Amino acid sequence: LKTPLVLVNLKCYTESIGNGAHRIARAAREIMDESGVTIALAPLYTDIHPINHHYDIPVFAQHVDPVDPGAHTGRMPLAAIKSAGAIGSLVNHSEYRLNVADIEKNVSALKGAGLLSCVCSNNVATTAALAALNPNYVAIEPPELIGGKISVSEANPDIITDSVDVVRKISPAVKVLTGAGIHSGKCVKTAVDLGTDGVLLASSVVKAEDPAAVLRDLVSLL
Ligand code: G3P
Repeated sequence: LKTPLVLVNLKCYTESIGNGAHRIARAAREIMDESGVTIALAPLYTDIHPINHHYDIPVFAQHVDPVDPGAHTGRMPLAAIKSAGAIGSLVNHSEYRLNVADIEKNVSALKGAGLLSCVCSNNVATTAALAALNPNYVAIEPPELIGGKISVSEANPDIITDSVDVVRKISPAVKVLTGAGIHSGKCVKTAVDLGTDGVLLASSVVKAEDPAAVLRDLVSLL
């Protein structure tokens, strides 16, 4: 995907389920057309196909289970997110931690299926370990800032710089995103100026009365 990337994780908020996902997708389509900045969405599984189909927006799954298709009940194999139209998946979000073996399995399986992996990490040491797995993206999100009003760009720019440095040393091809509390064009610009390839965010867009206005501001300084 073109850099810088704005990846919006819709999580499981009331505002992002079903019609809510459509509302955000309409806004994302509008701002993408207006600005030329790539905006991708990670909706709930049930919204992957409709969002991809109706809005031609790059769609990620929020998670994929490290299982092959077969006798598993209630699991979500990679083949299912791919057939729904996802171009990739988040892996190891702070709200859905995986063990290292399963992270590695997911990253390899996504690569094998021609899909993108965006592996989330919580600090610089974890980022170093995860970058060694060669995902397409590593997204650094300090857990204590997730869902808050103060962004990682404002509260902890050092974690961004240190993460970018460590990823460049270990796996220069891996792209770096950052997130947690991102809510303005200034937060996004700081993240990009510090060397990232974009941002991963959720609540500022999902919970907005006017998601298009927030997205317009987020991309305004790029
Ligand atoms: O995956 C995105 C994320 O955890 C950040 O959430 O609400 O702080 O933008 P938020």
